[in-house]
Amino acid sequence: MASSSSIAVPHHVAIVMDGNGRWATKRFLPRVAGHKQGVDSLSRCVQACIDRGIQVLTVFAFSSENWNRPVDEVSGLMELLAMSLSREVPRLKANGVRLHFVGNRLQLSDKVQAGLRQAELSTADNQRLVFNVCFNYGGRWDIAQAAQMLVSTGQAITEMSLDRAMALAHVPDPDLLIRTGGELRISNFLLWQAAYSELHFSDKLWPDFDEAALDEAIAVFRTRERRFGKTSAQLDGSKGVFAASSKTQKTKAA
Ligand code: FPP
Repeated sequence: MASSSSIAVPHHVAIVMDGNGRWATKRFLPRVAGHKQGVDSLSRCVQACIDRGIQVLTVFAFSSENWNRPVDEVSGLMELLAMSLSREVPRLKANGVRLHFVGNRLQLSDKVQAGLRQAELSTADNQRLVFNVCFNYGGRWDIAQAAQMLVSTGQAITEMSLDRAMALAHVPDPDLLIRTGGELRISNFLLWQAAYSELHFSDKLWPDFDEAALDEAIAVFRTRERRFGKTSAQLDGSKGVFAASSKTQKTKAA
């Protein structure tokens, strides 16, 4: 049953977009064709998030471990990133979307790095939706780079200092984390930030994940009671469970 603590729409939705390869294989197509279809699905998802008043969308587009895939698939994903930048950025810009790329850029080509910077700069004034694309990202990498930064600048490692040094420090933690494709795992995505995210696993392959599937995930989210370590009785006695959660309501410029 929905609790008094549920909110109409999650502020921040994060997605592991799994299933592109299977979508393509089922159609006797190369895996990269599934990733191309995945870009179209992502484009629709961004619009659906805007239409529903979601403020932050974070997606896992390429993991630190995806370098281990066949060379042609890795190069296909790199080309797709470059193609998506030129095709999608003007549309995102016009739609009020602010782009952030999250992950280790140093392993990407100079051209791709320049493209990411340009996309971020050209959408920097937008405010309708913050869209974080995690590319060459891993949750363990993120924790390690944050700790390394604190050590190298002589700062103490605390929950708060680490939190501020993480790659998603510009947004509150995700309220809802969706994984498509039927697998029931996090796969090194947002290990720190998903501590209190509600998890939703969809059997749909990512290219098939449509508005109705997003609405279903949101509907399930609304039935969840978010206790953040408290009891149900405590929540019933306070209207401000979200205010009580330092993590989801931390005042970040989202
Ligand atoms: C996982 O599906 C998906 C990926 C590794 C890539 C996700 C990328 C996109 C949706 C396109 C957006 C990308 C860019 C570059 C902007 P999988 O390949 O593991 O699928 P499978 O589990 O069916 O094999």
